[in-house]
Amino acid sequence: MMDWTDRHCRSFHRVLTRRTRLYTEMVTTGALIHGPRDRLLAFAPEEHPLALQLGGSDPADLATCARMAEDRGYDEVNLNCGCPSDRVQNGRFGACLMAEPELVADCLAAMRNAVRIPVTVKCRIGIDDQDPEQSLRRFIDTVVPAGPEAVIVHARKAWLKGLSPKENRDIPPLDYGLVRRVKEERPNVTIVLNGGIASLEAAQEHLGWADGVMMGRAAYERPWQLARADSMLFGTADPVSSPDEALSAYLPYIERELAAGSHLAGMTRHILGLFAGRPGARLFRRHLAENAHKPGAGIEVVRHARDVLASAAMHEAA
Ligand SMILES: Cc1cc2nc3c(=O)[nH]c(=O)nc-3n(C[C@H](O)[C@H](O)[C@H](O)COP(=O)(O)O)c2cc1C
Repeated sequence: MMDWTDRHCRSFHRVLTRRTRLYTEMVTTGALIHGPRDRLLAFAPEEHPLALQLGGSDPADLATCARMAEDRGYDEVNLNCGCPSDRVQNGRFGACLMAEPELVADCLAAMRNAVRIPVTVKCRIGIDDQDPEQSLRRFIDTVVPAGPEAVIVHARKAWLKGLSPKENRDIPPLDYGLVRRVKEERPNVTIVLNGGIASLEAAQEHLGWADGVMMGRAAYERPWQLARADSMLFGTADPVSSPDEALSAYLPYIERELAAGSHLAGMTRHILGLFAGRPGARLFRRHLAENAHKPGAGIEVVRHARDVLASAAMHEAA
């Protein structure tokens, strides 16, 4: 998720779940071809299984970038056809590609020809005045012959004219029923459901018919719930059993990254919600928010935040 997630976030989420698939935020082909490629593609070995999400609409550029993804060791490369921001519309990629499924098919075919790792696509159910009953089916039926391994559907329209990107994630209503019908009509197409899935329980329910589920905001805002994903969804042991254990498991990563020159706040911003709902959670959050960005802030800021939390819990118990 652009501006929210990054490699620090993914390493933190890996403390909580080993089996789920993590996706990068969208990276444009222009940025990868002309920009700071090494920084944009960097990830830690523990982040696997990991997909790189690309934004673009030039088949040759997408093929080049898919190859970069494969060479760097990504497990999947995904094409974004769902992002509604203005920046994206000017560049003719993201959600506006819902109007050009033939071009998307060309893009996916070029990517598939370039790599052996799975190529997937993420879309909306439609844009603007499209009728989702038609636009989703037309999109899927046009792009699937190009061979994507999965279609991830954010189950709401995007209004490219008139709504902000943020409004476009909440205001157009979700239509899980349509995605379900489309899946039932096309049992051989792998369809992953996204949009408004707030808990693992909800995810589990959708998995009764969907091939997969993708969680965005709920996973970011309340990361602790990811800690039961491995046992609930994959039937394997969870890596940590408490938020405190999760924080301890993330500390070595923070220390390593500080030593490599990363800023503390860039890592701690992803853990602000870890203790949500617990006594002292607000103090933990505030201590990190107020101190982690200070010049030279080190691991002691996190340790102190943990002490603040522990003493709040003791006061609560007393
Ligand atoms: C801040 C933010 C940034 C996002 N960036 C991306 C992105 O880079 N690529 C993408 O496919 N979706 C992006 N999304 C959309 C989410 O992946 C997801 O499709 C959407 O939020 C609906 O799912 P959710 O209700 O589980 O969050 C972003 C969402 C947010 C809130």
